[in-house]
Amino acid sequence: MNTKFKTITLEKKGEFAVLSVSREKSLNALNFQVHTELKACLSILKENSEDLRGLIFTGAGEKAFIAGADIVEMSNMTQEQAFNFAVLGQQVSLLFEELPYPVIACVNGFALGGGCEMAMSCDFIYATKTAIFGQPEVKLGLIPGFGGTQRLSKLIGRNKAKELIYTGRNIKVDEAKECGLVVKVFETKEDMLSGATTTLEKINANSPLAVSTAKRVMNEGNDLTITKGLEVEAKHFGEIFGSYDMQEGTSAFTEKRKAIFKGC
Ligand code: CAA
Repeated sequence: MNTKFKTITLEKKGEFAVLSVSREKSLNALNFQVHTELKACLSILKENSEDLRGLIFTGAGEKAFIAGADIVEMSNMTQEQAFNFAVLGQQVSLLFEELPYPVIACVNGFALGGGCEMAMSCDFIYATKTAIFGQPEVKLGLIPGFGGTQRLSKLIGRNKAKELIYTGRNIKVDEAKECGLVVKVFETKEDMLSGATTTLEKINANSPLAVSTAKRVMNEGNDLTITKGLEVEAKHFGEIFGSYDMQEGTSAFTEKRKAIFKGC
């Protein structure tokens, strides 16, 4: 992997990797360089997707996951630059969705604005008990620009999403878990990273092809009507019956043995 990245790190641990935003002094705020490096890194991961079976996305240090888009950089942007900045952040968010394996956001401390948005583009969110979420953009005279106006409603329902975006208020982890934004809460960052790795291992014991197909169908269906979404589901359900993994999984069940999947 490219070692020239200055604002992010990627650490490979066997079949999984940990991707971190690494601008601790600015609470990992997302500037143009971070997004450019995230886009490059995620594009390489996507092209070489057979190398990994899962990704953890987090922020360096204890204080923040990501405290949002870089307000200092944004304060001098023209309308055109701001548009391009939003598009770049949105491209990064889509790349997380396009990786054919699970991506878990591990949120420690602040996940505000663009930080909350990046976490939401992962498959699901784990958090520490000190995590704080929010879309405070309206307090700055802005709106969310990396997918928050679209993804938050889909995750927690339109009414609650509107209440959070209009007030710009922060929520603690208990409220974030209660509304379904956070899936699991951990005492420490270390516990959270280890818990996320355990979850990836559990997932990896299943058919990687089935998991990756489920991710694709669920993400695709998110933007479709129920009728169209069910069509996509039936198409992939049928296709997967031609796979080694499906033959292996069903044979192992009838032979009362553990399935050994190949991901094809
Ligand atoms: N952009 C740039 N720098 C940031 C930042 C951000 N989003 N958040 C924090 N920082 C910087 C601070 O300026 C400070 O730098 P200096 O030490 O050089 O002064 C450093 O990080 C530490 O921050 P604080 O001293 O403010 O730490 P704190 O504990 O007092 O407060 C905080 C923490 C509540 C998170 C506060 O920093 C804060 O409110 N940050 C901004 C949060 C925000 O509004 N995020 C949304 C941004 S808009 C957006 O994301 C748009 C989009 O959707 C595209």
